[in-house]
Amino acid sequence: MARDRTQIAIIGAGPSGLLLAHLLDRAGVETLVLERHSRSYVEARIRAGVLEQGTVDLLAEIGLGERMGREGLPHKGFDLAFDGGRHRIDLFGLTGGKQVMVYGQTELTKDLGDARQRSGAPIVYEAADVSIHGADGQAPFLRYVETGKSQEVRCDFIAACDGAHGVGRRSMPAGEVRTFERVYPFGWLGILAEVPPCSHELIYARHRRGFALASMRSMSRSRYYLQCAIDEKLEDWPDERIWEELKIRLGPAAAAHMKVGPSIEKSIAPLRSFVAEPMGWGRLFLAGDAAHIVPPTGAKGLNLAVSDVRILSRAFIAYFKKGDRALIDRYSKDCLARVWKAVRFSWWMTQLMHRLGEEESFEARVQQAELSYLVGSHAAAQALAENYVGLPFTET
Ligand code: APR
Ligand code: PHB
Repeated sequence: MARDRTQIAIIGAGPSGLLLAHLLDRAGVETLVLERHSRSYVEARIRAGVLEQGTVDLLAEIGLGERMGREGLPHKGFDLAFDGGRHRIDLFGLTGGKQVMVYGQTELTKDLGDARQRSGAPIVYEAADVSIHGADGQAPFLRYVETGKSQEVRCDFIAACDGAHGVGRRSMPAGEVRTFERVYPFGWLGILAEVPPCSHELIYARHRRGFALASMRSMSRSRYYLQCAIDEKLEDWPDERIWEELKIRLGPAAAAHMKVGPSIEKSIAPLRSFVAEPMGWGRLFLAGDAAHIVPPTGAKGLNLAVSDVRILSRAFIAYFKKGDRALIDRYSKDCLARVWKAVRFSWWMTQLMHRLGEEESFEARVQQAELSYLVGSHAAAQALAENYVGLPFTET
């Protein structure tokens, strides 16, 4: 296939770009994907791991559920740990039978990469210097460099699925975009280790020393996080110190079952909430992290990316198959309604679970009261559960 013209030019081969490409490919809409890094680099990045029910259902529906069904771990609840106790949030019972799936973003990205390869549709890894031209007119095009050679591709629309630091958002005129941001004064120190998890479900812990999370990738691979200072240095956290701190913050029952081992990966990530409005300009559209960032506390980042591209793919398909532009024109509005609900939930869970200052403070007392309310009130627990499994995807 000629590479100088396509219907949708997609920048970025993270989950957003690859899933959009797959949805469009299935519907017979032509795409070209341009990715700055190599395939192995993209697939090795350790990211989130919890898929909402709606994300799982969509992946199954479009033929990407096979390995996830075999290797993913369905979770019907999680624990909140605070004040020395542990309380289960029964997601399944509180939401009328919904659950989440623990399946690493790395695995999903591999499945999507395989699907792209099987389709035979074009994807250029290590595409350098991607630039966007004419997005406000009728004939947009991209320039990029492939193995040292300058290329140009004309298209009908551009989908910038290029993450938080991509070229898409930067190509919108400053006067056309409003951004909203909340930077949190702490980060997450993450560790991945080839040891069985300390509990069969996730544990979100509020502790006077800071937040901790026990998660997993499989029954033999654990993922843990600790709240840390923004300027914390990884070299100050040898594995032993991380395990000791996790045991304290997650509590004695988790500590008793915690298997420790050498880290496979360790990293520190800052936490922030960010939204760009609108999510499009002319013939350029933003999806996933390119348009919004949420702190990981609510496990929403990947799921939001999936709902964006689901909405965007529908809009493009309606345009190419029925000549109907209405959904394209409404894309930003339709997405943002959902985005802000997930931003709100992620912010709320972050404020609730992290050490914000002294333990003897107004904020800490309010957190304790809210946690006690959450586990004591069916209505409060239900509100948490319905957000965690994912708000319904309304057909628009
Ligand atoms: N040219 C080409 N590719 C680019 C460019 C560029 N100028 N800039 C960025 N990219 C690529 C990145 O290398 C990356 O592979 O775009 C991709 C964006 O992927 P992600 O950052 O994973 O973003 P997205 O696909 O929206 O996925 C959102 O990732 O960060 C997590 O929590 C987030 O789980 C959510 C998910
Ligand atoms: C993870 O397993 O990486 C994970 C799980 C739940 C979260 C955040 C991250 O809220």
